[in-house]
Amino acid sequence: MKRLKIAVFASGRGSNLAALLSAIERGELHAQIVLVMSNKSDAGALEIARRHDVPALHLSAKMFSSATEFDQALLAHLHRHEVELIALAGYLKKIGSVVVRAYKNRIVNIHPALLPSFGGQGMYGIKVHQAVLNYGCKVTGVTVHLVDDEYDAGAPILQRCVPVQPGDTPEALAARVLEVEHKIFAEALQLFAEDRIEIIGRKVRIKP
Ligand code: GRF
Repeated sequence: MKRLKIAVFASGRGSNLAALLSAIERGELHAQIVLVMSNKSDAGALEIARRHDVPALHLSAKMFSSATEFDQALLAHLHRHEVELIALAGYLKKIGSVVVRAYKNRIVNIHPALLPSFGGQGMYGIKVHQAVLNYGCKVTGVTVHLVDDEYDAGAPILQRCVPVQPGDTPEALAARVLEVEHKIFAEALQLFAEDRIEIIGRKVRIKP
């Protein structure tokens, strides 16, 4: 059976990318990561890609004279690698509308909280977990969602809870949330691989 061709965009260390590659190796995710793209030349994710013989691309809007030119160059790379789905794994840049339109309902992000809480521009990394603790939440979690023109605004595909424990530090909470991220992202992408994602209005329905 044909494998779903995925591009992973990441700005940082790439632990989610590594988890996806492991899920593929274990046969739990029927997909192929055909491209890893980062806006940061020193992103750990690019290094992980190279170690796995996955094409690693450093591409940043700073290399182009306009956002549209950047989007078009990015789109050309995506088409060249026959990318069918884009997975954002800690990618800190907004996806341009040209790419959002070309990959409508085929771009997925992972966020380390239960959206729509603790999301939006600037809400990333340890700041998310700090905000959860500052609010006094008893539960947080992970959201895998579709990507549209707004930060963290597309419909959820899968969400999973992580209880906050008394005495949690942002770092301790982040580590427990990350463990869940590493499972749920592959599960969500496998739903695409099995063609079980249906979009109804703005919501995602998972076909049985
Ligand atoms: C993860 O917490 C993810 O939810 C968020 O950015 C972080 C990326 O971590 N969007 P890593 O680079 O995959 O280790």
